[in-house]
Amino acid sequence: MERRTPGRTGVEVPVVGLGTWLTLDLPEAEQEVADRVVAGAFEAGTRLVDSSPMYGRAEQVLGRALDGYREEVFVATKIWTASSDEARAQLARQLDFYGGSVDLEQIHNLVAWESHLPWLEQERDGGRIAWLGATHYAASAFGELARVMRTGRIDAVQIPYNPHEREVEREILPLAEELGLGVIVMRPLAEGALLPGPDPAELERLGVETWAQALLKWALSDPRVTAVIPATSSPGHARENARAGSPPWFGPEERRYVEELCG
Ligand SMILES: NC(=O)c1ccc[n+]([C@@H]2O[C@H](COP(=O)([O-])OP(=O)(O)OC[C@H]3O[C@@H](n4cnc5c(N)ncnc54)[C@H](OP(=O)(O)O)[C@@H]3O)[C@@H](O)[C@H]2O)c1
Repeated sequence: MERRTPGRTGVEVPVVGLGTWLTLDLPEAEQEVADRVVAGAFEAGTRLVDSSPMYGRAEQVLGRALDGYREEVFVATKIWTASSDEARAQLARQLDFYGGSVDLEQIHNLVAWESHLPWLEQERDGGRIAWLGATHYAASAFGELARVMRTGRIDAVQIPYNPHEREVEREILPLAEELGLGVIVMRPLAEGALLPGPDPAELERLGVETWAQALLKWALSDPRVTAVIPATSSPGHARENARAGSPPWFGPEERRYVEELCG
């Protein structure tokens, strides 16, 4: 994958990435588990990963698991602190974990975004960060997220989107489309709450192998979505999820059918 913000500049989209919250927060002795998950995802075509300093050891574990793949992977991570000293320390650690550059640096939960944006823009202009973004998980913060989007200073947003969480359809997705911003979907499987799902026989008309793939394709089939980032601790699930990242995409009828199956 080219080092571009997915969506903004024409990278091949949509893509299935790999989230790391909880699943890659592992002690050193369990690094091998992460290596297998990342290798499984990579072998099946995943080329985007997402992490944060909020996720314990996940950033570091991910960095080690990417050994040998870094050049081919788009690394999205986050700054998560109100302190500007700690923010700079977070970036310094990330540069160490990810071979000297971060592809997409996101302001996590909009924490102190007004004070972080100016120095992050300098880092981007200096070439250590390629693109800037902002994230929030709560619908109550989407008004503020929209305000940040309208500044024209970010390239991508990360938001929750699945058949049970659709608040972004009201303002965030239309605005992202209008401004040409990338959209990365967190919680595409509703943190597992929508699994295991219906009987596999019900999936035949969707042309997918599993219910997790149906949910991932539901989000990816919205043309405003750039990437989904399901998290998993299973190499098999990582491969299965990556296989949802190719056409044909769902039309309105298939999407409605998935919504009905969700109940
Ligand atoms: N949740 C948030 O508030 C939040 C906020 C900011 C950013 N994010 C980012 O978004 C990423 C994704 O969100 P998320 O981790 O909250 O939730 P998610 O990806 O919607 O769901 C993760 C859960 O789905 C299960 N799973 C994954 N693939 C599966 C498959 N093929 N079949 C069955 N189960 C499967 C995983 O269990 P197994 O380990 O058993 O596969 C895990 O329990 C995070 O990792 C993080 O990078 C999340």
